[in-house]
Amino acid sequence: MIQRGLSILGRAIREQPRIFAVAVAGSVLFGGLVIASAYVVGAVVGDVVVPAVESGEVGTGTLALAAVALFGISVLRVVGIFGRRLGAGYMQFRLQAAYRRRVTRRYLDLPLSWHHRNATGTLLSNANSDVEAAWYPIAPLPFAVGTLVMLVGAVGSLFATDWALALVGLAVFPALFALNVVYSRRMAPRQARAQRLRAEVSGIAHESFDGALVVKTMGREAQETARFAGRAGQLRDALISVGRLRGVFDPLLETLPSLGTLAVLVVGTIRLRQGAISVTELVSVAFLFTVLAFPVRAIGWVLAELPRSVAGWDRVSRVLDATGEMPYGDVALADDGTPATLAFTDVHFGYAPAEAHLPGAQVLGEVTFTVPAGRTVALVGPTGAGKSTIASLAVRLVDPDSGTVSLDGVDVRRLTAGSLASTAALVAQVPFVFDDTVRANISLDRPGIDDGEVWAALRLAEADGFVAALPDGLDTMVGERGTSLSGGQRQRLTLARALAGRPRLLVLDDATSAVDPRVEAAILAGLRSPAPGQQAAASILVVAYRRATIALADEVIYLEQGRVLARGTHSELLATVPGYVDLVTAYEQAEQEREQNRTYDEVAPLPSGLEIEVDR
Ligand SMILES: Nc1ncnc2c1ncn2[C@@H]1O[C@H](COP(=O)(O)OP(=O)(O)OP(=O)(O)O)[C@@H](O)[C@H]1O
Ligand SMILES: [Mg+2]
Repeated sequence: MIQRGLSILGRAIREQPRIFAVAVAGSVLFGGLVIASAYVVGAVVGDVVVPAVESGEVGTGTLALAAVALFGISVLRVVGIFGRRLGAGYMQFRLQAAYRRRVTRRYLDLPLSWHHRNATGTLLSNANSDVEAAWYPIAPLPFAVGTLVMLVGAVGSLFATDWALALVGLAVFPALFALNVVYSRRMAPRQARAQRLRAEVSGIAHESFDGALVVKTMGREAQETARFAGRAGQLRDALISVGRLRGVFDPLLETLPSLGTLAVLVVGTIRLRQGAISVTELVSVAFLFTVLAFPVRAIGWVLAELPRSVAGWDRVSRVLDATGEMPYGDVALADDGTPATLAFTDVHFGYAPAEAHLPGAQVLGEVTFTVPAGRTVALVGPTGAGKSTIASLAVRLVDPDSGTVSLDGVDVRRLTAGSLASTAALVAQVPFVFDDTVRANISLDRPGIDDGEVWAALRLAEADGFVAALPDGLDTMVGERGTSLSGGQRQRLTLARALAGRPRLLVLDDATSAVDPRVEAAILAGLRSPAPGQQAAASILVVAYRRATIALADEVIYLEQGRVLARGTHSELLATVPGYVDLVTAYEQAEQEREQNRTYDEVAPLPSGLEIEVDR
């Protein structure tokens, strides 16, 4: 454990060598002055105080010299402390910032499948308290390194003074070190457990706040609170056991140097009687042991924080070393505004199992179809058939296990990140809105998207009306996850976001389900006619339920249990595929019932956050 902790510290030093050198220089200066101060104090006692007590008078010159020496040492010590503290602080906070950036960057690089397996609360904890824990020992590290140098110097000066006193030092210092090692060994499992519980507590909290709607409507407040309290209680117990151990060892570590001082006084008095040392030397050495007690603790601080650092680092490196990232290729498609062709060729896909030893179920098999340039293809199938999975594959959120997904004939795995993002846009089944203005949510700071483009996209998404009616128009803040908007409004905002980038392929995963059917049809019709400045409308792959929407498609692909069962025009499928007829009819009936029982948000907005629940 100590070895692993030291290698983490080594990494920190390699990353910030210059600042570390400044901090250690300050610390070594301080250590040297501590030793010097012991000898100056000894000299002052031996040459000023003792003669003064014996003869009753002191030379002014000697007194002034002593004062200047003590003052000079104090000033230099201040410089040393300043350098050390400043350096250590810089180093620690820079490392924390750097690793927070690396961890969050890594989150964005890792594929969706990795995110499915890792709870958001844990990720928050990784980027926050784990990074902090990993670099905790950096704060006392320069002090500890300086202290080690100082101890070597102290032992050397002890030997120069008297071998018997040096032996006392040789007994006390290694004992201190050994005690520190035992301490950190005992601490390791406790710290690791506390660090893990910190993540779990944050995970539970995150989940219950995130699911506040469910918790409240299902009356689960008490149970959620109990679930949180249980884990928080475990964390409290873990931290108390850390504190208890600290309570035992801290006084021991404090006492040992004092025992050393005592031993020095006993041994020193004998040696003084024997005439082997002078009063000056005895006072110097006794004083040295007293002033050493504090810096020696710095070594203990580092060792005591090492277990926590290792625990934090393990959790951070689990993210940094996670594999499965999807490397991008180097092919860039020409962005000429013409619609793109999407092709699936014999695609097989299964989600990775939740636990490695479980078999992963196949979700898609032998999926082959094409969305020709400028055409609209509808994906229809019962729930769980794999429609959203196909949508994810089309924009490369996941890669197929076998087979290929291609855009304009190029395997999407060979495309650059930028080319992929500018060619194909997905409007997901569950709309996500940032806690920002309407404008920022649509433009996402992409170059070339000015207010004109934003309004054009809003018009296409049939969202210009409600945005214009918002109190601050494009500058209106939409609240976290768009809570101040209705479900249908949120959906149209995310649609406008996709359209603003002028994608050449648009993938709509049930993207208009919360919108009035008439508005949905208007949106679809608008998308199929070319946008101003574009030669032709984008190709569209649309997951749809409503007959009116499906009927607009040039081709319908009927999916069941991850397989393409039939394809053709809507009327062809109605005539030939019984399952298709059942499904479409069932949707239509449900739709009619809903039409009678429900008013869409365009007419009377429902309380925000509830539409989705109503829709399902
Ligand atoms: N992240 C995931 N991990 C494991 N299995 C998943 C994951 N997402 C979906 N599945 C499974 O894959 C299958 C297809 O899911 P998919 O979301 O593609 O269906 P869908 O056709 O979009 O359904 P719906 O109409 O309800 O949206 C389902 O059996 C589902 O349980
Ligand atoms: Mg779906």
